[in-house]
Amino acid sequence: MNILVLGGGGREHALAWAIAQNPKCDRLIVAPGNAGIAALAECAELDILDGAAAVDFCVARAVDFVVIGPEAPLAAGVADALDAAGILCFGPSAAAAQLEASKTFTKEICDACGAPTAAWARFTDAGAAAAYIRAQGAPIVVKADGLAAGKGVVVATSVEEAVAAVEEMFAGSLGSAGASVVIEEFMAGEEASFFVLCDGTAVVPVGTAQDHKRVGEGDTGPNTGGMGAYSPAPVLTPAIQAQALEEIIRPTVAEMARRGMPYKGVLYAGLMIEGGRARLVEYNVRFGDPEAQVLMMRMGAQVLDLLLACAEGRLEGAEVNWAADHALTVVMAAEGYPGAYAKGSEIRGLEALPEDSAHMVFHAGTALRGGRITANGGRVLNVTARAASLADARTEAYAMIDAIDWPEGFCRRDIGWRAL
Ligand code: AMP
Ligand code: GLY
Repeated sequence: MNILVLGGGGREHALAWAIAQNPKCDRLIVAPGNAGIAALAECAELDILDGAAAVDFCVARAVDFVVIGPEAPLAAGVADALDAAGILCFGPSAAAAQLEASKTFTKEICDACGAPTAAWARFTDAGAAAAYIRAQGAPIVVKADGLAAGKGVVVATSVEEAVAAVEEMFAGSLGSAGASVVIEEFMAGEEASFFVLCDGTAVVPVGTAQDHKRVGEGDTGPNTGGMGAYSPAPVLTPAIQAQALEEIIRPTVAEMARRGMPYKGVLYAGLMIEGGRARLVEYNVRFGDPEAQVLMMRMGAQVLDLLLACAEGRLEGAEVNWAADHALTVVMAAEGYPGAYAKGSEIRGLEALPEDSAHMVFHAGTALRGGRITANGGRVLNVTARAASLADARTEAYAMIDAIDWPEGFCRRDIGWRAL
């Protein structure tokens, strides 16, 4: 079959890498793709936020199946447009994608189905929000209601910090995403991510992971999109996974179906674990990035069969064929990230690295210029390895990093520390 993947980051490189290994895949196109993806798929130009353009593209190229990587096209209704045109697609409708696009929507769903999460209140007025913060005290969490590319959450350790965050959001620092603000109880504990596929009714777990959101070693410094990840996440024990499925995920999926917006796609539950129980921090309606890189490396070619079963409503009874393995990915970022950084520096040494089912450098932000691989983003490479133990996977990943010649890049040297 002819398959189109939408997106151009490390997550989409990992998805394309796994899909391309499946014999069902005859032709693979990725839009827009990147320099790493170009080695295993055709890269094409397409406005991935434009549903009508995606439909035209699929008709012109006889695409049988579309896999949507990032949240923006989902929130923009690209899955709805493909569905209406009769093109098979992996990814939720815009209505269902509100689970990521609107914090208020998700909180209301949790309240309606009884899923455990932080206590919350919503405000459209800075004065009322500040009064609520003073009444609750710190620590407290301030969130812009809309999509803010990971920058819409402030975990405030003092009342003053929380009030300042609210004032900035209402002053327009995040555009329309901050026009409404959710204020939440601070949840202590350890965070982990749980991924399930859902076809509207059936739910199939596809792995656990933990990422490192802070830029600095020891999980310090500003937040980023993620500096590294590993799978499985030992903190998500089988018992806690079962609890999260029964108390959080299945009730959410049932509530979405009841509201006439059945959830189809991957549901990424960010969980806070404390005292042997999980509570929901947030949902995302896509695979995590860089969590997808470790999940794809662990699942390999079977991913395409699972994504197809999900899109076709055949998930009941499906399961992942797991190996007893661990995968770890280290993000190499451009010096300066998550602040200002330069593009265009050359990355050398990649061609000498192993590329097999246990070693891959997934490209997150690269471009090919005159035959050279150059940095073209903040997060640039995801150096990923799989092994029988997490410690071995980490050793392998850092051995690859040490062979990469890119003076303008940096990485954290402690990915996996919490689990090791
Ligand atoms: P979110 O975008 O909602 O995932 O929030 C980003 C990050 O902020 C999460 O991954 C947590 O580390 C942190 N966070 C969000 N909400 C809470 C909460 N209620 N309590 C503690 N930490 C939180
Ligand atoms: N790595 C976090 C995310 O994809 O949202």
